Amino acid sequence: MRLEQILFGQGFGTRRECRALIARGAVRIAGAVCRDAEAVFAPEGLCFEVDGVSWPWHERAYVMLHKPAGYECSHRPRHWPAVYELLPPPLRTRPTRGAVAGVQAVGRLDQDTTGLLLLSDDGQFIHRMASPKHHVPKVYRVRTCHPMGDAELAALAAGVLLRDEALPVAALACERLAADAIEMTLDEGKYHQVKRMIAAVGNRVEALHRSRIGPLALDATLAEGQWRWLTPQEIAAFGATVAGQA
Ligand code: URA
Repeated sequence: MRLEQILFGQGFGTRRECRALIARGAVRIAGAVCRDAEAVFAPEGLCFEVDGVSWPWHERAYVMLHKPAGYECSHRPRHWPAVYELLPPPLRTRPTRGAVAGVQAVGRLDQDTTGLLLLSDDGQFIHRMASPKHHVPKVYRVRTCHPMGDAELAALAAGVLLRDEALPVAALACERLAADAIEMTLDEGKYHQVKRMIAAVGNRVEALHRSRIGPLALDATLAEGQWRWLTPQEIAAFGATVAGQA
């Protein structure tokens, strides 16, 4: 693939901007500046540098972000900055089928929720992961305003009726971590589901953190606001999870 195409596909700007980057010597391959936009490289496994920042080539982007509180999962945020601002510009501007689209969050976390957020530019992956049909379990650590009694935990596991829902909604698993903290596993993604379930048993969420989605736990080495690429093994594990439930 030509160097200009490689940069364009990874989100480094328009074709013209990519050619300009290459011409001004901003791009290094294997440590050496390459000023030839027509130079051909095998993209698979390629790691290049742009202005000293190394960038591993990925045909599709799959990343995890440790979402901090105070960010909205929206491209048009209303009150808080967008989570996308925590990502480097190429991830936000990668073209999808020629158009600038960037990565999208796989489902949403509330502004005040922290923890594991997946983002990708693979539309099929996003759709499969977010689809209620696939029941990908998500694990939340919940700190509540008041202590949680055994009866409340049992009610969450048995199912509670939420406003505007016809049928009760149950947690797949519910475990006490402390008097005012529980771990809840859900396999649906209804609007404000954790907060509404906790309210349904007469309590209130003080803090909410997502620690796992299906086979993938939040990387403990990522501080709030940091992100990393998923490994091929992690991507494959998702494929197996979703395919296994199809
Ligand atoms: N449930 C909620 O109430 N909020 C979230 O951010 C995620 C799940």
